[in-house]
Amino acid sequence: MNEATASSSLPQGVTIEPRRMAFQAVEGKPRYWHPVVVFTHLLTAASLFFPEGERFFVRSVQNYAPGIADPDLRRDIAGFMQQEIIHGEEHERYNNDVAAQGYPYLIRLERYLVKGLFANMRRFTSRRAQLALTVCLEHVTATLAAALLKYPQLMEDADPVYREIWSWHAVEESEHKGVAYDVYAAVGGSYWLRVSTLVWSSLFFLSLVLFVTARMLATDGILFKRETWRQARAYARERTAIFKHVGGWFIEFFRRDFHPWQIDNRAEIDAWKRQQGVTAP
Ligand SMILES: [Fe+2]
Ligand SMILES: [Fe+2]
Repeated sequence: MNEATASSSLPQGVTIEPRRMAFQAVEGKPRYWHPVVVFTHLLTAASLFFPEGERFFVRSVQNYAPGIADPDLRRDIAGFMQQEIIHGEEHERYNNDVAAQGYPYLIRLERYLVKGLFANMRRFTSRRAQLALTVCLEHVTATLAAALLKYPQLMEDADPVYREIWSWHAVEESEHKGVAYDVYAAVGGSYWLRVSTLVWSSLFFLSLVLFVTARMLATDGILFKRETWRQARAYARERTAIFKHVGGWFIEFFRRDFHPWQIDNRAEIDAWKRQQGVTAP
């Protein structure tokens, strides 16, 4: 390991700040918090993977933390771990609240499928492969986060509480997006391992998220309703340019000299912080 060359990539003006937000329970909130039903369930399905996934991310970075000498990178790792632990707790509550709205199997899926999945990854794959998976899933979350912050029209007309939860998470994902990557680089992680991991993991998790989304639509009795898909198509069509732009960020990862902060969204992070400052009591 070449710990001596490891350093923090955190750009000027960014701090990795864990924030306890104390969101209200989602109980009593609209079943479809986003006007597009498929979008509502897609994000809930993604949320189902967060609590266990984020604990997995923390452990896979923690495995290498003792060998990191650079004080700035050590500070970033500590901030990253604290943020992810709080995200896990918030999304656990989010998931429980949604499950109580008539999707009780979400709890079982989380308990057995998601937990089993990450437990097996820890058991049967190397620490380096686990860190590579963390780097890739952090890229997926950072890309989604940058999209939600840059394009508020993705969330327009959404319930304000949910919008707040997703914006807060998106800001913190952005703040710590370089940490797992820097640790991976510090321990000499290879280009091929990271890009091959991105290919299989994004396809694999996308399939699982689509499966959960379809299951929830089936519960609502609207999986095969033409209106469900007409609405989703209309929403996507109006935002084609956004999706193309975001897709471009996603594939940047395949460049050999990629780094998460090449997609610089400091302006959006600062805008959120300013807004919090204005609206704080
Ligand atoms: Fe997170
Ligand atoms: Fe993260």
